[in-house]
Amino acid sequence: MAGVVIVGAQWGDEGKGKVVDHYAKEADVIVRYCGGANAGHTVVHAGKKYKFNLLPSGVLYPQKTNILGNGTVIEPEKLLAELAELEEAGISPTLFISPKAHVVLPIHKDLDAAEEEHKGARAAGTTKRGIGPAYSDKAARFGLRFEDFCDPVALREKLPKLLALKEKVLAVYGKKPTQAASETLQQYLSYSQECAKYLADASLLLNEALSKKKNVLFEGAQATMLDIDHGFYPYCTSSNTSAGGACTGSGVGPCAISEVVGVVKAYTSRVGEGPVPSEIFDSTAEKIRERGGEFGTVTRRPRRIGWLDLVTLRYSKMVNGLTGIAFTRVDTLSSIEAVKICVAYEFEGKKIEHMPLTSAQFSICKPIYREFSGWEDLGEGWASCNSFAKLPKNARAYLEFISKELSTPIYFVGIGPSREHAIVLKDVFKK
Ligand code: GDP
Ligand code: IMO
Ligand code: MG
Repeated sequence: MAGVVIVGAQWGDEGKGKVVDHYAKEADVIVRYCGGANAGHTVVHAGKKYKFNLLPSGVLYPQKTNILGNGTVIEPEKLLAELAELEEAGISPTLFISPKAHVVLPIHKDLDAAEEEHKGARAAGTTKRGIGPAYSDKAARFGLRFEDFCDPVALREKLPKLLALKEKVLAVYGKKPTQAASETLQQYLSYSQECAKYLADASLLLNEALSKKKNVLFEGAQATMLDIDHGFYPYCTSSNTSAGGACTGSGVGPCAISEVVGVVKAYTSRVGEGPVPSEIFDSTAEKIRERGGEFGTVTRRPRRIGWLDLVTLRYSKMVNGLTGIAFTRVDTLSSIEAVKICVAYEFEGKKIEHMPLTSAQFSICKPIYREFSGWEDLGEGWASCNSFAKLPKNARAYLEFISKELSTPIYFVGIGPSREHAIVLKDVFKK
């Protein structure tokens, strides 16, 4: 059996959607195991740009099974809007949703905004999609599961109770809900009718597929540095976004996973708050942001830009058990005279190559750079750059250096946003 995890190795928006779309070609099942509509995964196909917040990025292939696992949080309005958009484009995906996934309510979004305001300097700069409050309810065992949402009797019983409690919590912040509880109930009863057909035993489906030697792709959302445990707390999201989350968030055992592919953008980008040691603020940052269109898919916020950070990537390799790297955006980083890699941090006058022990220590680390000669922009030529050998020499040296430092082979190199802009060095489903 072959279970392959695609995981963001940095701070998100590495290009997971594009890499998943590529490897989905050989997959039978694609499953999202964490997060909700905070994700924004872009897939460019046949000249059209698709942005998926909730749906797995495998939906563009007809006949593939797509699953939202128990580790996800579902915003019904967003789910139905995404499905309707696909329907308009003539695509009707096969979709199943775990009964154990949790449901995001409008009041979760109100709470998200209120909590952020209250946190002040400790605010993560969330997407305001209600993610933290929905996962908080899950952990506190107040939450509304997808199985309850799909059952009108359970929904009528559980939702008013939950909303009444959440309204009290919101009042502590001096806020009122944007939507009355009675309206939310009516709205969710109506959504529930539309969504109930997707309810299925996701864990059983996945395990049956794996035992029949089918190929399963686990699509990570967010990224390692945003993981609730392994990311930079509290400037992170609220789920286990790293590779371990693929098992707990979908209901398969660890032995089901044969490959863990870390998606690594050729530089660093970050939406939201918190320290990014290799962040840059100069005209190069501006150039990369503009060339790369580095503005948040979900919130349109300008993404913060930095040089590639090997210290966080070493950490990412370790906590995910990366077996391969999928690089993206090698084209975006072109036409810069000298590019840098943060190879170590300076911490209390010492050079360290691994993460310091605590978050407080991480936040005062300074980057130590190694400089590399840049490479030319191939322009239209990127589309015909179909082998590693055809990459500009300096780009090859840059990628090989990172791969060597991480003792992890290169599986994929992205050289543009479209499907044809890919150099594939490893078919992850082939032994
Ligand atoms: P995700 O959240 O990890 O799926 O990434 P996003 O979709 O939020 O952001 C990645 C952006 O980079 C999208 O606009 C992609 O179309 C684009 N992209 C992905 N890979 C490449 C690449 O190799 N080169 C270029 N130029 N764009 C890419
Ligand atoms: P994809 O899957 C980049 C960031 C937010 C914020 C923190 C918490 O597209 O890579 P949340 O709304 O989850 O409570 O926000 O996490 N964040 C992301 N940053 N890409 C994402 O997803 C993100 N999802 C959340 O900006 O700092
Ligand atoms: Mg994104």
